[in-house]
Amino acid sequence: MAAIRLGRSGRILCAALAACGLLAASCGRHEAGGPGAKAAEQGRIVMGFSQIGSESDWRAANTVSIKTEAQKRGIDLRFADAQQKQENQIKALRSFLAQKVDIIAFSPVVETGWQPVLEEVKRAGIPVILTDRGVDVTDPSLYVTFIGSDFVEEGRRAAKWFVDHTTGDVKVFELRGTPGASCATDRKKGFEEGIASCRRITVVQSQDGNFERGRGKEVMEAFLKKPEARQFNALYAHNDDMALGAIQAMKEAGLKPGKDIKIVSIDGVKAAFEAMIAGELNCTVECNPLLGPTLFDEVEAVVAVRRLQARAAEGGFFTADMKKLLAQDLGALFAKRLVIQEGVYDQSVAKDVIGTRKY
Ligand code: AHR
Repeated sequence: MAAIRLGRSGRILCAALAACGLLAASCGRHEAGGPGAKAAEQGRIVMGFSQIGSESDWRAANTVSIKTEAQKRGIDLRFADAQQKQENQIKALRSFLAQKVDIIAFSPVVETGWQPVLEEVKRAGIPVILTDRGVDVTDPSLYVTFIGSDFVEEGRRAAKWFVDHTTGDVKVFELRGTPGASCATDRKKGFEEGIASCRRITVVQSQDGNFERGRGKEVMEAFLKKPEARQFNALYAHNDDMALGAIQAMKEAGLKPGKDIKIVSIDGVKAAFEAMIAGELNCTVECNPLLGPTLFDEVEAVVAVRRLQARAAEGGFFTADMKKLLAQDLGALFAKRLVIQEGVYDQSVAKDVIGTRKY
């Protein structure tokens, strides 16, 4: 359960909750029709989740992970697909607010512009969890915790592959993710950091591909028609989908991706492993989309604490120590950042590993 990732006070609180059965009741884990079924139904967690869209294989796996886990735990999930638009996400957040959900989680398409709507949500007393991507707000108490990868580190890992596995001048074309998305900004930053001390590696062009396969292909097709394309011999793509689109464009232009052009991308989706086995992609840096289990561990713990806080506010009986704990802001009880651990895979291991990939 989530307690292992909570702050110290949160751990104590959850141990206390578990001891008096409150965590299970608030999580709706009773057998259907069993003695606790009614109580579980009453205590069923209602969660609003705003997903970015369906731009990539990564996103599809992330959506399945969240929906499957919610169903497994009996959580009433109100899922909204924003189709890559921040305005749709803001609308979804306001609609969850109107529905008086217990908790909201979302993957923000871009980093900025969230402060006003998150302030509204906070005023309504609804806790927020960020998953996958981060937000840029001046008040960190606007969300309880952020669960996701270290995108800067992913960029560094991609750079390290080029540093360790190439010789001579490397002229990189960078295919960036959605403008303003935390992962696009951070992956660029990490990559630049990673190549900074290796002067033979330079980025000659950097363009947006919106994390989409089709867009990756179009951008590469257009670039290959330009005279400066003659000097490039490497591609760094912020996700596998864009790399796969670009690979297609290279093949159609008579190039040999993976050989003439060394290619590193991020995510580690199955199709990237297939491309590595075919010798067309050199390396993929993992970004794990299977966030459902961790997300719902946190959701259950946060809602349980929130319900206990409500009981304390109504004058329920608690020891002085518990009252002190419960008087704290949720942010003090939960770790602010949960970083997902990930690996790096290249052609040398692709065949052995593909069978174990879950997305
Ligand atoms: O935010 C994670 C990124 O978004 C993934 O790398 C990409 O594939 C997705 O669309």
